[in-house]
Order: sequence, then C-alpha cells, then structure tokens
Amino acid sequence: MNAPAPPAETLRSALAGLLDGLPPKQAASAVERLIASYRGATPTDAPILRDRADVVAYAAYRMPATFEAVRSALAAFADAVPGWVPGSHTDVGGGTGAATWAVTDTWTGTRGVTVLDWAEPALALGRELASANPALDGARWQRSRIGAALTIESTDLVTVSYVLNELTEPDRAALVDAAAAAAQSVVIVEAGTPAGYQRVIEARDRLIRAGFRVAAPCPHSAACPIVPGTDWCHFSVRVGRSSLHRQVKGGSLPYEDEKFSYVAATRLPVTPAPARVVRRPQIRKGQVLLDLCEADEQLRRTTVTKRHGDLYKAARDAAWGDAWPPYPQEP
Ligand SMILES: C[S@@+](CC[C@H](N)C(=O)[O-])C[C@H]1O[C@@H](n2cnc3c(N)ncnc32)[C@H](O)[C@@H]1O
Repeated sequence: MNAPAPPAETLRSALAGLLDGLPPKQAASAVERLIASYRGATPTDAPILRDRADVVAYAAYRMPATFEAVRSALAAFADAVPGWVPGSHTDVGGGTGAATWAVTDTWTGTRGVTVLDWAEPALALGRELASANPALDGARWQRSRIGAALTIESTDLVTVSYVLNELTEPDRAALVDAAAAAAQSVVIVEAGTPAGYQRVIEARDRLIRAGFRVAAPCPHSAACPIVPGTDWCHFSVRVGRSSLHRQVKGGSLPYEDEKFSYVAATRLPVTPAPARVVRRPQIRKGQVLLDLCEADEQLRRTTVTKRHGDLYKAARDAAWGDAWPPYPQEP
C-alpha cells in the first residue's frame, strides 16, 4: 500500500482543485478585490471574507504562504519541546484552516481540532478542504467573534496566524489573554513587517507576564534586544507560486519569499535554541558570517571558519531562522 501523501502536498492539490472550472480572469479579479479590501482600513466591524469568491481567492492566493510560515514556526517550536505532541489544537481566527494543516504536518496522528472564526464562508471552505486530510477528520469549525467576550476551551495548543493585524488593540489583548488561559502552548504568527513584529512583541510580553516561557524564535524570555524602531525580527519561507500568482502579480519567478514574525511560548519544560540565526548567512571564501540572537540577550555577529571543522560544515548549511548551533539530530 502507498504511504499517504504529506499534508503539504495534499493541501497543494486541494487548493489547485479549487480553481478548476473558475475562469482565470474571474479568479484574478476576486484576488484583486481582496487585496484592495486588505489595503483599506483594518480592523473592520464585519468580516472581510464575505462570500465564496472571497474565500476561494484567499485560499488560493494566501493560504500556501500562511501555511508555510506557520509550519516553519511550528518546526522551531517542536525542536524546543522534543517529544511533546499536542493532544488538542485550537486555531483562533483560523479562516480556511492553514494552521490546522501546518499542525498535522508537524505532528502526525489525530487530535481534537477546533477552528474559530467570524467568517462563515471561510469556515465552510476550510471544512471542505480539510476533507482531503484524514488528520482533520472530526475538526469543529465554529463561528466565533474575537473580542472581550472570547473564551477558548481548554486545549494543548492555540495558534493565531495572521490575525492580530485585523484586531483592535483591546481585542488583541483579549485574544492573547484567552489563549494564555486556555492553552499549554501558544504560537502566534504575523506578517514579517515592522508593525507585525511589534504586534508579536506585545503578545510575547503578555504571554511572559501570564507565566509562559518563550520556546522560539528567541533563545531567552528576557526583553528583545532589538532597539525599537531600528530593526525588526522576522524570517522568510519560500513558497511556490501558482499560475494565479503569476497572473495577479506578473513576473515569471516560480516562487516568492513570505516574510513572517512569530513567537512560540509554552508552560511546558522547554529547551530554547542556544542562539538563532536572524539574517541570511553570508558565505565567504573559507568562512560563514552568522548574525545571531544569543541567550545572553545580545545580538552578535560570529564568524565560523574552516578551522572550526564540523561546526564550519554546519554553518555552511545554516539558514536564516535556524537554531545555532543546530539541535542534535534525532537518530
Ligand atoms: C488574514 S486571515 C488569516 C486566516 C488564517 N489564520 C491563515 O493563517 O491563513 C484573518 C482571519 O481572521 C478572521 N478574523 C478577523 N477578525 C476577527 C474577529 N474579530 N473575530 C473572529 N475572526 C476574525 C478573519 O475572518 C480571517 O479568517
């Protein structure tokens, strides 16, 4: 019997199927409408994703990127809590369910999954897509508004992916507090912009005040060493472009790089990375320059040369966002 396809592959083909039968012009104009709505004032009083065309456009155009960003954040988190597997997961502002797919890609097996969102068409499409992923059988897709009245049932893991941006400051605080009250572990992902980073830092501070420790990307739970306004902590994942992307954005590159900021925090015993690579490593003749955020709350550049032997080999393979030195490989 063939092994089941990994969730990333199944998601790709489920999303490709969405556009079957939809005239390319119609799909492109739905995406353009959506981009215009997001350029307008957010937060809004009512969902931006209003109907099936909106959510199909969102899923086909954005979900591959939000899935990859969450998957990357979860991989870093999983390294810091080896052996832990969430027994239940709640995705708040989950939309079409990108983070639920990322969780099933990170930890195999099934678990209780709940997706909360105020946009019914997004939940309906999320449910439809999830029928291709056996690990999401039985997931509950529930209408829920994030605000002061939000309560989240007790769960092992809460994810909040690309949602804080759409909320008022009090609603962001209410969401983080509700997540901290409900879950052992909370993973928050935002766009990798200065504003996205700022929202992540505010959430990080709130989670630490609630008794959580930061598992990733930071090597410590003290204050972020970046001087406000001078830089922002963010990472990048490569996402394959569909024909829809090429149609809307032009250009011929087969991929684009999704920039994201994140924090993964937990009440579990945790082994954060000794340091994290916070820029693309620079490879020179016989040496690699690594910009690191280190456990002593400093940002530092380190040069790894051939004289460092195996460490040099590891540095040549190191990527932006990796732990440094790498976590030991599981046998
Ligand atoms: C950019 S989408 C992200 C969707 C999904 N988490 C992902 O990563 O692809 C933002 C989601 O937040 C939801 N949302 C925004 N404000 C909300 C609110 N006040 N209550 C509930 N859901 C909200 C939207 O309906 C939408 O599905």
